Amino acid sequence: MRTAKKLMAFLVLAFVIITTVACNNAETKDKTEQNMKEKETDTKSKSEGIDYKALVNKLNPLPEEWEDELEISNTVNSVGDDVEVESKAYEAFLKLKEDLQKNNGIYIELDSARRSVAEQQKIMYDFIKKYGEVYADKTVAVPGYSEHHTGLALDLYFRLKDEDGNYKDIYYNEDMVMYPHIWEQIHAKLADYGFILRYPDGREHITGYGYEPWHIRYIDDVNAANEIMKQGLTLEEYLSGERLPEVRVNYGKSKRYSHDELAEAVVQIKCEFSKMEGLELHALNYVENEKKAKKALKRINMIFEDADYTQAVCFISSFHTPSDADKNHWEPDKEYTDMKWWLARSKDGEWELVLYGRDDNI
Ligand code: DAL
Ligand code: ZN
Repeated sequence: MRTAKKLMAFLVLAFVIITTVACNNAETKDKTEQNMKEKETDTKSKSEGIDYKALVNKLNPLPEEWEDELEISNTVNSVGDDVEVESKAYEAFLKLKEDLQKNNGIYIELDSARRSVAEQQKIMYDFIKKYGEVYADKTVAVPGYSEHHTGLALDLYFRLKDEDGNYKDIYYNEDMVMYPHIWEQIHAKLADYGFILRYPDGREHITGYGYEPWHIRYIDDVNAANEIMKQGLTLEEYLSGERLPEVRVNYGKSKRYSHDELAEAVVQIKCEFSKMEGLELHALNYVENEKKAKKALKRINMIFEDADYTQAVCFISSFHTPSDADKNHWEPDKEYTDMKWWLARSKDGEWELVLYGRDDNI
């Protein structure tokens, strides 16, 4: 959290200084809290003792006594690792695998499914060492809060045939994301076997995690899985009955930033919106203006003590206020189309949301 030096000056400019930043660090918990609803009892599907629709996320740990009811199947994958999976989920996985093999020529394998708290701890430790804390927090659940503890979350990888007809394992995350057309075919079949894609693209502000095409979740309910997959829902939305509208994002044609870099900034804005009850974000537009960005950067570095930002980007939003909006802040039931959101980052750092407001003269 940074301290505002020139708060008054900026309030005159009708900009709000954001003092909580970085959606994907320890503060994620606060920001996603309102979207990660506690599971609703009426949607439970209990079978053989476990609740196949149990919600385990950054706010909901593995339910107590889960292990007592869990039935496990053991298997060994193509790279020789032992994998444990909840038994019904494993049966469903085998059917999915057979279907993909027969009809799509895609060979899926299980990288990891059920994990103990100690195993999750080790993964967390390895990720922090390899990628740093920010990335680890974005991708690895805190031990005790991983869906993998349930045995119902399955991380897939796949095998491809090379020119000589030999199989090659596409195993590492950074390699797997290079094959969107393969994931598309896999995802299209998940629901028919009672699986869902648990961390869809662009829903980080709800699930708490970035896109993981490989992480699927067994819910033992083909109808519910079809509803979730067809409507592009998260498990949080399905269980709470609340759906956040899709946000249209226009990334423009940037000469300075890649789509992924700008998408990281968009996540921060979405997370901020998830804290503002009743406000419905509809669209975000990135407009590149180097001169303005340079000027803004100078001002932002003046506002925040100890800041050493080297880049700044701005998105213009379109959002709707609720009819019972606090009149001190918003006009009720209105579509605001001119709010600007400034994010800044230092060299090798993550985007931080630093200001938002309607004034053009930052
Ligand atoms: N990768 C998922 C979030 C986990 O660690 O459980
Ligand atoms: Zn996973």
